Amino acid sequence: MHLNHPDITTVLVTADEIAEKVLELAGELDSYYQDKDPLLVGVLKGAVPFVADLSRAMQLSTSQDWMAVSSYGSGTTSSGVVRILKDLDTDVTDRHVLIVEDIIDSGLTLSWLTTNLANRGAASVEVVTLLRKPGAAKVQINVRWVGFDIPNEFVVGYGLDYNERYRSLDGVGVLSPSVYS
Ligand code: PRP
Repeated sequence: MHLNHPDITTVLVTADEIAEKVLELAGELDSYYQDKDPLLVGVLKGAVPFVADLSRAMQLSTSQDWMAVSSYGSGTTSSGVVRILKDLDTDVTDRHVLIVEDIIDSGLTLSWLTTNLANRGAASVEVVTLLRKPGAAKVQINVRWVGFDIPNEFVVGYGLDYNERYRSLDGVGVLSPSVYS
């Protein structure tokens, strides 16, 4: 679905800009993970397009696995307490794990996840995120690769949803308040 859509008030990142950034990140990951046999861990559901595009842009052969997590908390506010809805199928002991996220907002999901995977005995745990909001700066997480820093607005597209809709937009934009108010 094209980002030129009546429910989108502001375009933040176009499909072309994402494609260019994905190529750039893939090149950096290829160099960093040379000889490391990385395991890409996608966080469902938002990271699906990013994992698909990033892994195909990489020249290295990667393994992939998926986790689904849910943050306990009221409404849209993360509490930092995370529940695993779907765990990895892969044993990450001694593996070089790369968590692939669509967005870091409060950073609480990622903070919990990096600790959880490190505690399982991974050889390394790094993070690549396509988008990062300012709130992420308040939590101490080591995010090695960031695609775009974006303003603190309600964004959808390229995996990000509102009520399960708009994930299929080809870029990222601000959702019109008329949709949710
Ligand atoms: C989003 C996003 C991250 C998390 C970031 O997932 O994909 O996993 O929230 O938020 P945080 O930095 O404040 O912890 P969401 O829970 O909306 O699930 P979804 O990917 O299935 O839409």
